[in-house]
Amino acid sequence: MAEPPLKVPRHVAAIMDGNGRWARQRGLPRALGHREGVKALHDVVKASSDLGIGFLTVYSFSTENWHRPESEVNALMQLMAASIDAEQDGLMKNNVRVKTIGRTADLPESVRLRLARLVDATAGNTGLVFTLALSYGGRAELVDACRRAVESGSPPATENDFARLLYDPELPDPDLLIRTGGEQRISNYLLWQLAYTELYFTETLWPDFRRDGLVAAVEDYGRRQRRFGRV
Ligand code: IPE
Ligand code: IPE
Ligand code: MG
Repeated sequence: MAEPPLKVPRHVAAIMDGNGRWARQRGLPRALGHREGVKALHDVVKASSDLGIGFLTVYSFSTENWHRPESEVNALMQLMAASIDAEQDGLMKNNVRVKTIGRTADLPESVRLRLARLVDATAGNTGLVFTLALSYGGRAELVDACRRAVESGSPPATENDFARLLYDPELPDPDLLIRTGGEQRISNYLLWQLAYTELYFTETLWPDFRRDGLVAAVEDYGRRQRRFGRV
């Protein structure tokens, strides 16, 4: 008998965790784990496009990650700059639109300028919307939203009004959150948006989470029953 068609989430959010442990298990420096993590992300973006997922939002660097050793932060920033350069053509070819959320003004210029260029170059693409959460914190986003509300002089009256103050008002709430690396926590990700998201945790370390990992998560999601507080 034919398999039933996959029930595909419209918006998948991912906490890409476990790069450091992947490297340690192999006696490699953490930076090499991050480099392998970029390869996994490349696969997952392509697989998301192929599955017909509308939005993919990945936690790439948190506000708390600034407290890691300077050498690791620098390695991550260099990797981001290099990856943007390396991936731009492929993203264009796959009709992927790239966006960012977070306090991106805090990123070094080498990353900020490349990001701005990538966001600009892909702005007209109509396929997967691929959002990078960079220097992102859920609490920071809520504080920034409140600040914007005060500055505008018109406080939000409804939840929809408030959602329009978030970093990207066009981003729908995630249907599925995937966290790799075995930890079962949110780590300050998308605190407002995750209110009714289905949570999926896997022991797989992010560098090992490829197309098959995504398909398994989406299949699991397809078996969930969402109620949104109703009967
Ligand atoms: C996630 O992997 C990537 C970032 C947070 C930038 P980690 O670097 O947190 O890897 P582990 O959790 O130490 O294995
Ligand atoms: C969450 O992973 C942040 C990113 C994946 C970018 P962390 O490794 O920073 O989270 P904790 O410290 O385990 O909560
Ligand atoms: Mg981690």
